[in-house]
Amino acid sequence: MFQRLQQKWKVNGLQLILILFTFAIGGSLTGFAGKKLMNLFSIDQRWLWLVIYIIVVTVVWPFAVLLVSIPFGQFRFFTKYLQKMGRRMGFSRKRSEIDSLIINNKQGAMDNPSAGSGATDNPLIIHFPIAIGTPPDSYRDTTHVAIFASGAGSNAQKIIDHFRDSELINIALIVCNKPGAGVLTIAAKENIPAIIIDKEKFFRSNAYTDDLKENKIDFIILAGFLWKIPDTLIKAYPGKIINIHPALLPNYGGKGMYGNYVHEAVIAAGEKESGITIHYVDGHYDNGDVIFQARCAVLENDTAASLADRIHQLEHEHYPKVIENILKK
Ligand code: GRF
Repeated sequence: MFQRLQQKWKVNGLQLILILFTFAIGGSLTGFAGKKLMNLFSIDQRWLWLVIYIIVVTVVWPFAVLLVSIPFGQFRFFTKYLQKMGRRMGFSRKRSEIDSLIINNKQGAMDNPSAGSGATDNPLIIHFPIAIGTPPDSYRDTTHVAIFASGAGSNAQKIIDHFRDSELINIALIVCNKPGAGVLTIAAKENIPAIIIDKEKFFRSNAYTDDLKENKIDFIILAGFLWKIPDTLIKAYPGKIINIHPALLPNYGGKGMYGNYVHEAVIAAGEKESGITIHYVDGHYDNGDVIFQARCAVLENDTAASLADRIHQLEHEHYPKVIENILKK
């Protein structure tokens, strides 16, 4: 039970103990304060006293736990916890832009006046959980896709363009591990929610997996994302994570084989041909089942940069179409 609570609240063991203490002491304080407040009224009927007492403790409880949370160092947790409760009970709704953007991101790119102002002060860079409220029926009929990318994002841009008017496929989220990456500027320009993920949290907890599920992400596309995908995420999305690699796998793949390192290795080996591989993601780098490959020539005077350009063209031409074919099945 304690482990489940830890996972649910995404806290460590010590923090869980402090939170439970806060609940217990906050509860006692609520009872105490409630009784004192009730002394201010003179109510004869027992049922009325009880009704008012319940109202009083409901109002007092959040203040009591917040107060107690301060010495326990859990004020932040409880502010978020109470906000979440408030939302669940319908008292408040997180009406951030993200809220509607994740549902309505097909509305158009330039609605947000501050879009494109750069990654660091980008108002669309948010942290999970994104409160999407109750999605309309149409949202459920759509496949919601997250693009994981950490680079310039040229593939992400092509994928976004390809599905811009799609009723069935919605690019709902950009996941990035690099502040300042070009893909974040694209996300801002396109009004697509984006998050910068934390390494520790990504590899050592289920937090992002839970958040992706909670936010109804159905499919994950890697497009220049350099971190290995943790097993928990792969298990949560079986056969639903794909990657593109800028070479003909199984050659020139694996740890450390990314970007220009791939093209340099291809040229150094004197290959006459290179290409792209789109494949499912398993627990190893560049290892899952191959879905699609396309080839191009390696020219005699090619540099890593010129070969990369040719490979990018292949990627842009094929990746969106291959994604569409997979998602249409
Ligand atoms: C692409 O070459 C892709 O094959 C590799 O990373 C690169 C990303 O480029 N996985 P971009 O950021 O989409 O321009």
